Amino acid sequence: MQQMEERQQTVYKSGTILKKIHYMGALAMCAALILYMMSNNFIHEYIKKTSGIKGFTETTEARIYIGKENTKRTTPSIKIIIHTYMRSGSSFTAELIAMHPNIFFVFEPFHCLDRIYKDGKVRIPYFPYLNRPARINPENISLVKYDIMNNYLLCEVFNIDLFTLQSPFLHLGNQRTGDYLQCLHESSNTKGVVSCLPIFQNACSRAKGILIKTIRSEMSFYRKMMEKHQSLKIIQLVRDPRATLFSMHKTGAINTDEWNNNLYNVAKIFCSRVLNDLEIARELEALHPERVKVVMYEDIAGDPIKKSFELHKFVGIELLEEEKMKIIKKTSTGEVSCKDNMCTSKANSTLAASAWRNRIPFISVQIIDQACGPLLYDIFGLNFIQSNQKLRSEHFSIRKPGGANFTKKHFIAENMRAKFKETRLI
Ligand SMILES: *[C@@H]1O[C@H](CO)[C@@H](O)[C@H](O)[C@H]1NC(C)=O
Ligand SMILES: *[C@@H]1O[C@H](CO)[C@@H](O)[C@H](O)[C@H]1NC(C)=O
Ligand SMILES: *[C@@H]1O[C@H](CO)[C@@H](O)[C@H](O)[C@H]1NC(C)=O
Repeated sequence: MQQMEERQQTVYKSGTILKKIHYMGALAMCAALILYMMSNNFIHEYIKKTSGIKGFTETTEARIYIGKENTKRTTPSIKIIIHTYMRSGSSFTAELIAMHPNIFFVFEPFHCLDRIYKDGKVRIPYFPYLNRPARINPENISLVKYDIMNNYLLCEVFNIDLFTLQSPFLHLGNQRTGDYLQCLHESSNTKGVVSCLPIFQNACSRAKGILIKTIRSEMSFYRKMMEKHQSLKIIQLVRDPRATLFSMHKTGAINTDEWNNNLYNVAKIFCSRVLNDLEIARELEALHPERVKVVMYEDIAGDPIKKSFELHKFVGIELLEEEKMKIIKKTSTGEVSCKDNMCTSKANSTLAASAWRNRIPFISVQIIDQACGPLLYDIFGLNFIQSNQKLRSEHFSIRKPGGANFTKKHFIAENMRAKFKETRLI
């Protein structure tokens, strides 16, 4: 008992530390991890081996563990993916489900991959897998992503590349991977990582549900994935684009030059992508009723308990008393005011969700309204903001009385569609 408490304490501490890491810090960790593995002779060994086209299948460790993996494995009966966009309240929303003790939570599974593949370039061509040689190239990056996601849904962690399996983001909010984290911490080399994997796999396959949250996925993945995984449910999370884009600017994802000189285009591209995803969501919902749900962050922040209840119901798990207490504590007591980018605790979730209104320049609001209004505002139930005074006033509601209606059809202009039409690779 004492031991368990101690362990939980460690897990809690690691979790808190990880949460406090600034986004950039986490990126640096990812890079450090890659460097670490390289310095570990790992890549060198790997390149040497793969050039002889043998790869990891030939190593004894891999054989042993792949062998183990094949014995009595179950997968979680509940499978959920939260598909969303940067700065859309997704950490907060995912946590509402991930806090359930029976959920295995995967936070941003493509994070490491996106560090390696950036701006159309593959920075490290060798992507180390346990049981097969691997190279990635710009043409098949989306297949690699699909593969990672699919293997997570099956808890086949042995088929996932070793970078992803050590992502510093992997444990954020996951209550079930403490032992794996501890094991990784104590392992100083790749062999060590390999020996920790069974712990990770057990944590996954013993969970009742698996939840993946991603801002780096493609909605078109789910066409095939929903066929393959009959219990898979998709949650598309959206937010007022004025809030999202401003927050992206604040965190550097949209740089000052783009914000000042190209905001109309940036906003139009972003909002077209969201609309395109909404259309795919509608298509999927028609094919698989009750398995797709679109939610708006503002609605969740406005009534976290009610929305949490709805989300649990959709997912098929019970909202526990202890979860309710945690949500209340997080969203309404004003206990913590968290400025950290990665932090999901909000002193007052309604206030936090609309704080951008006090800081965004009015001119930027006008530009985003022009670019995104015709595409999304009718569906999202958003009002255009005509004056600086209205923007800052608590008495002016930026939501229409009826709120969002995601079943409303809205057709994206053909030229935009051509631009955002996703390749049906899969
Ligand atoms: C991607 O392409 C490389 C060869 O260019 C191949 O070795 C690798 O298996 C491919 N990955 C997937 C997931 O198809
Ligand atoms: C949170 O903020 C909203 C908007 O200002 C306010 O109406 C509400 O009373 C606040 N809730 C708490 C618990 O402070
Ligand atoms: C949402 O929009 C659809 C299509 O326009 C309409 O049939 C439906 O009644 C609307 N739902 C609500 C709750 O307003």
